[in-house]
Amino acid sequence: MSPANVLITGANRGIGLEFVKQYAQLQPNCPQHVFAGCRSPDSAKDLQDLQTKYKNIKIVKIDLNDEATYASAAKAVEEVVGDAGLNLLINNAGAANRASLDTVTSEDMVSLFQINAVGPLMLTKAFLPLLRKAAAKGGAMSSDRACVINISTGVASITENDTGGAYSYRTSKAALNMITKNLSLDLKKDGILVSAIHPGWIKTGMGGPKATTEASDCIEALLKVIDSLNSEESSGKLYHYSGRVMPW
Ligand SMILES: NC(=O)c1ccc[n+]([C@@H]2O[C@H](COP(=O)([O-])OP(=O)(O)OC[C@H]3O[C@@H](n4cnc5c(N)ncnc54)[C@H](OP(=O)(O)O)[C@@H]3O)[C@@H](O)[C@H]2O)c1
Repeated sequence: MSPANVLITGANRGIGLEFVKQYAQLQPNCPQHVFAGCRSPDSAKDLQDLQTKYKNIKIVKIDLNDEATYASAAKAVEEVVGDAGLNLLINNAGAANRASLDTVTSEDMVSLFQINAVGPLMLTKAFLPLLRKAAAKGGAMSSDRACVINISTGVASITENDTGGAYSYRTSKAALNMITKNLSLDLKKDGILVSAIHPGWIKTGMGGPKATTEASDCIEALLKVIDSLNSEESSGKLYHYSGRVMPW
């Protein structure tokens, strides 16, 4: 099983770049098109290198601080996929900081809410016509049919928060979790599955060198989780990278 058309945001480095790499060469059936969203396509060297190797990769400009890029990206994707639509949107792009109660500012809060919550919601809205086209082919809800995956974090779980701190990151991702649940309810009638995943602690720019897991191992696990989502009951959940459902 594999989705025909996939879009990943924040695809120029870290977890997003690894998503592109592994989807582009997925076996036995790789996607027809892997759209790699990034802020600066012209300087996305690693993506450009991947694109020379895997012809199904297409780079599109998506800046979560610039809503005009949402519509232009949707148009660029539509021109390629046409009536087949988009099967899988992975809202991966994100930002973090460690703002404590002493250091958090209004600017931190608003900035991270834009990137981690408002942006993914409005981008998903821009891609809804293409997700609906893909869903129209029918069948069980799944990532092969039509699906939105929001990359969240265990740090956003209200139930599991026992240390405090990280105000802007925790709250903006908790907002993303609510958006995930809300979208899952609103899009059930369209046959579009929406869930969130906590990827673990990954060696990327955000996770840092002391993180426990390589991006390649993380994405191997996440691809299995996404592939296992195949029913209405799989929608509206926060998944741990192992596949278990986590408390919000
Ligand atoms: N690494 C971890 O341990 C960990 C743990 C839990 C959850 N996560 C989540 O996993 C996702 C990916 O994280 P990562 O570790 O790969 O982080 P990363 O290495 O810092 O990469 C972040 C990605 O998001 C993009 N991005 C940031 N701001 C953006 C904006 N305004 N518009 C568009 N793209 C933007 C970055 O693009 P630029 O290069 O242009 O800045 C980059 O591609 C995030 O949502 C993060 O919260 C990561």
